[in-house]
Amino acid sequence: MKKNIVVLISGRGSNLKSIISATNKENFPAKISLVISSNKSALGLKIAEKNHIKNVVVEQKEFSNKELFESDLIGKIAQQDPSLICLAGFMQILSKTFINKFKDKIINIHPSLLPDYKGLNTHERAIKSGEKYSGCTVHYVTEELDSGKIIAQERVLISPSDTPDTLSRKVLEREHIIYPKTIESLLS
Ligand code: GAR
Repeated sequence: MKKNIVVLISGRGSNLKSIISATNKENFPAKISLVISSNKSALGLKIAEKNHIKNVVVEQKEFSNKELFESDLIGKIAQQDPSLICLAGFMQILSKTFINKFKDKIINIHPSLLPDYKGLNTHERAIKSGEKYSGCTVHYVTEELDSGKIIAQERVLISPSDTPDTLSRKVLEREHIIYPKTIESLLS
């Protein structure tokens, strides 16, 4: 039987789409039982909808504090009894309480070769620093931003003509391969 995974998004949802395509294959070890968006306008919600995947919006601004927001998230995730929680462009920093609740089950994809370029605007910073390579990393989520154990990484060559936009597209192509592949290997 396929294991449950929950995917957390905040925006476009292209990684979500690549995970959906992978989970649609008969031999893939998991299915997405729930998509949660921290933003009601996220395009990724439409992707979930189109693929008939249960989806909910949990926006922090609807709660009086972060603790209540996270406790709602925890409740919704725990109901699914997921084997993995996959952050896919989820732009919220999670607290220690949240992370401990799902110990070693939360993974994230980040558009840089961690530990380099944690945080935002990774492509712009990599180009400005004159890096020869960039890439993407799948890692476990810990309290410290973009710092958990690295599970998988893919390298992309930065060409002299690259802009943050073209580099982001090149890296994203690799993200769409590496993320489903990593989920598959963790759950097989
Ligand atoms: C992806 O490039 C992902 O690596 C990045 O946000 C984008 C989401 O795109 N995540 C982070 O920067 C997390 N620190 P998507 O919504 O199309 O999957």
